[in-house]
Amino acid sequence: MKMVLLGPPGAGKGTQAERLCERYEMAHISTGDMLRAERREKTPLGLAAQSYIDKGELVPDQVIIDMVAARLQKDDCQKGFLLDGFPRTVAQADAFGAIADVDIAINIDVPFDRLIDRISGRRMCPDCGAAYHVSVQKGDKCPKCGGKLYQRDDDKAETVENRLKVYQEQTQPLIDYYEQKGLLKTVNGDQPIERVLESIAALLG
Ligand code: AP5
Ligand code: MG
Repeated sequence: MKMVLLGPPGAGKGTQAERLCERYEMAHISTGDMLRAERREKTPLGLAAQSYIDKGELVPDQVIIDMVAARLQKDDCQKGFLLDGFPRTVAQADAFGAIADVDIAINIDVPFDRLIDRISGRRMCPDCGAAYHVSVQKGDKCPKCGGKLYQRDDDKAETVENRLKVYQEQTQPLIDYYEQKGLLKTVNGDQPIERVLESIAALLG
């Protein structure tokens, strides 16, 4: 299966991707996670991406397209993959369409007024990439792997506002893009995590 997860920042793409990839044995391709890993390792790509991420802007298309194209060459993608946070622009979607197919694009629909709370309360594990919310996860230890949970720099209020604006201007058009290709399905993301998961699973059959 070759799947795209669409949705605004905080919609739950990473949360669902983790569960879906475990259940359906797909490779999880999260461009946000890849960029954060590059940044931690202080690679040239990571350092170049940092200023965009910190401002809530998109990293230039060609950088992302090259990074995803290289990732697709890895063996684990043979069994199928789930794209989380990519494509983010029509140019990225077109470039991706030239190198691989998409079977289904799932849009996780969440009212905008829910997103700020989700993002501001998010805590991430640097080791396994899992995301939690402070209202559910007490303490700073990842229950899965013991990593020390942290708050993403771009989850601060001033950056979040710009991320949401950038989403509306540059990424939201992809909903129509995949609709026109007959590939789009939408799920209600404003329900408990396990319910969202089952809604997606029902679409996948
Ligand atoms: P990226 O890391 O992709 O961030 P994003 O798209 O802004 O999305 P998030 O990761 O913030 O949200 P999510 O939908 O994954 O939500 P999550 O599951 O964590 O990108 C970061 C930056 O990198 C970009 O701004 C850009 O600079 C750059 N970048 C990345 N990809 C790029 C690309 N393709 N092109 C150019 N630049 C790119 O959940 C959020 C919170 O909500 C958590 O606390 C979670 O526990 C909670 N939650 C989840 N589901 C539910 C639920 N159903 N009910 C209640 N709470 C829930
Ligand atoms: Mg994410």
